[in-house]
Amino acid sequence: MSDSLIRPRPRRQCCALLFGVGLVFLVIYVITVSSPSTILFRSFSSFNSSSVRTPSVGLHREYDVWPPFAVQLISHTWFKKACIVKGEFSISGIPDVLASWAATENPDCKILYNKFTAIYTVEKRVGSVKIPDTFQSQVKAWLGNKDDLYQELFHQNIIHILNMYTRETTVFNPLRDKRPVTKPKESEEDYLERITKESALSCDFCKYTNFTAEHDFGRVESKLSFSASNIFKLDRLHAVITIKDHDPVNWSYEQYMDMMHTTLVWLRKAFTHEPSAIYPAIIWDLLPKSGSSQLHPHNQVFLSPNRYQGMVETWRRAGQDYFSDLHSNYFTDLITLYSALGLAVQFKSAVALASLTPRKDNEVVIIAPEADDDFFQLIYYVLRAFMDDLKKYSFSLGGGFPPMESSAQAGRLPAFVRIITRGVMTEIRTDISALELFTATNVNIDPYKVVQVIKDSVKKRAPRP
Ligand SMILES: *[C@@H]1O[C@H](CO)[C@@H](O)[C@H](O)[C@H]1NC(C)=O
Ligand SMILES: *[C@@H]1O[C@H](CO)[C@@H](O)[C@H](O)[C@H]1NC(C)=O
Ligand SMILES: *[C@@H]1O[C@H](CO)[C@@H](O)[C@H](O)[C@H]1NC(C)=O
Ligand SMILES: [Zn+2]
Repeated sequence: MSDSLIRPRPRRQCCALLFGVGLVFLVIYVITVSSPSTILFRSFSSFNSSSVRTPSVGLHREYDVWPPFAVQLISHTWFKKACIVKGEFSISGIPDVLASWAATENPDCKILYNKFTAIYTVEKRVGSVKIPDTFQSQVKAWLGNKDDLYQELFHQNIIHILNMYTRETTVFNPLRDKRPVTKPKESEEDYLERITKESALSCDFCKYTNFTAEHDFGRVESKLSFSASNIFKLDRLHAVITIKDHDPVNWSYEQYMDMMHTTLVWLRKAFTHEPSAIYPAIIWDLLPKSGSSQLHPHNQVFLSPNRYQGMVETWRRAGQDYFSDLHSNYFTDLITLYSALGLAVQFKSAVALASLTPRKDNEVVIIAPEADDDFFQLIYYVLRAFMDDLKKYSFSLGGGFPPMESSAQAGRLPAFVRIITRGVMTEIRTDISALELFTATNVNIDPYKVVQVIKDSVKKRAPRP
């Protein structure tokens, strides 16, 4: 490990400088040209994007070949002993852990520290409140009349964690997670049973041969699952992959793995028909709370030319920027750092990380060199843990797989998906607001709780036959 020297971002500072100078030129240019809209954009009209698959100019940045992705875990026990003198491994304790880590003399710990702080910025601020006497009993009731929780109101730990490469920020206030849960009028289980029954009566996916569309190159079908084309597409190659049975929650390991195999077969078939489309992305929303339009369990895949869709490309770009700065593989280092911190669970060649910058509750990131059985099995253990152990039935999942061409080594992503749980299904209020859409995500569940759930699930459910 000690040979991988850290160079603290000379390139980024230099880019910032160039960018500053460029901005000045741009401003001067805009002021001096008589008709800026035509002149400024003229160069873009001759840009033929279909002939340039990976543009290397401007905001597109280059696709470099990164060091190969590798799953390298570090023992959390070793890390605690070697690198951290004091500090508790919890979301509130992370700032103290970092302070202790910063003071380490051990060269391996220093390398890890420099990598961690290159990616993450952690800030803790303590918030307090002044509560009028007239309001006290109401506030106490919200906290289940627990005095220790009430006292915590006056020194609340607010933790901001920023990922400087993906530009994601999550704000944690663990006190919010300690509030007692109020029971909904209709239990989530009753609700689930009711909507499953109701929706089965008129489900198009249950009668898929008559009521789903196909791609020009036909349908992929197996014993337990099938593909269909979205009627209103979000890309030329946009498929729905569905388990044949209707029940959104009660599906087995065999059904799930069959659906994922059908997904891979569809991607391969789509790629054969359109070899320029090489970037696969996958999403899966379950139950209406997550935004899913059909109860019948189904994931969706996109196979795109030029680049991955949206956030997946943002993560790939994070890997590119990290490589430019540190000459290292971002995803390899992420796994190493999370394992050191005790936030990783390995299963064969795949790893699950309890995210420090979750998009929403309980985010787990699963990463593997390829979208293969190890990867899908670990995803299955996470999904079943959410549904069967936490009783969080509604989830959202999204991510990308490596490019379809094995020769596409430049900027090559490993397979990854991120999975979050969604709010209480019977609540009208959505769990995503302007915070998540436009500022920073608020999550109050400690990633150290999440990692325990995943550990327990793998222990309980693996190894599979
Ligand atoms: C773009 O480039 C391709 C390949 O060189 C060419 O076939 C196509 O006609 C070009 N399209 C335009 C709009 O210039
Ligand atoms: C599908 O359509 C055919 C032809 O109209 C019909 O015979 C069959 O019963 C339909 N199947 C379902 C499941 O609706
Ligand atoms: C789940 O599905 C299995 C197999 O289809 C079935 O035997 C079982 O009764 C179902 N359980 C529930 C709770 O619906
Ligand atoms: Zn159905």
